[in-house]
Amino acid sequence: MQKINIAIDGPSSSGKSTLARNLAQHIGYIHIDSGAMYRAVTFYALQNGILDEGALCDALPHINITFHSNPDTGLSDTFLNGIKVESEIRSMEVSEQVSRIAAISPVRRAMVARQQAIGRDKGVVMDGRDIGSVVFPDAELKVFVTAPLDIRAHRRYNELLAKGVNITYKEVLRNIRERDRLDTTRQDSPLTPLPDAYILHNEKLSPDSQLQALLKLYPFAEQI
Ligand code: DC
Repeated sequence: MQKINIAIDGPSSSGKSTLARNLAQHIGYIHIDSGAMYRAVTFYALQNGILDEGALCDALPHINITFHSNPDTGLSDTFLNGIKVESEIRSMEVSEQVSRIAAISPVRRAMVARQQAIGRDKGVVMDGRDIGSVVFPDAELKVFVTAPLDIRAHRRYNELLAKGVNITYKEVLRNIRERDRLDTTRQDSPLTPLPDAYILHNEKLSPDSQLQALLKLYPFAEQI
């Protein structure tokens, strides 16, 4: 069967990365978490004390982001200039800054070009905010995953607690609310549900039911 590209967009902590990863594993596709790329750029800026937009744009050619599968976890880890940064890019410090960095147009252009290169031969499930609208506007299957803010904040809070991060629910809620605001109101490719996307409200669905829902859609998309 001919491979397709699958775009999975949605707000922070909507569970889209887990769903994208599960789907990709199930159908033998590559999974790319595009948010990890914006997080890696943000981590680079913080690490190098880059505060202004111009300096960050100048540094873009020196920011090499790659993904490698981890044989221990079976998951894909993010590498920045050859160094694994998977846990560093998930820190609260990065989460606080990433939406601001992701709103910078030259940063977006550079990331979109890399994402499109990865998808050139199809067979990719990519999750993010602008995958169906900008990265793969011709994706054969587009999904928008969402859940109410408090449910997403609770999910994220529990994930952070499990990792031993010292944080309150209120802080997590504030961060997610602010990222929602920035991601949906920025000028360049804001997050918005597309008319041709399948909307998945997942607050009452287990990860497996979500996967099953997409597995029902996927064969039709592949035949188009
Ligand atoms: O999916 P995430 O929460 O890890 O993404 C981190 C940030 O990156 C998010 O606040 C918005 C930005 N992002 C984006 O602007 N476009 C994408 N395709 C993916 C993420």
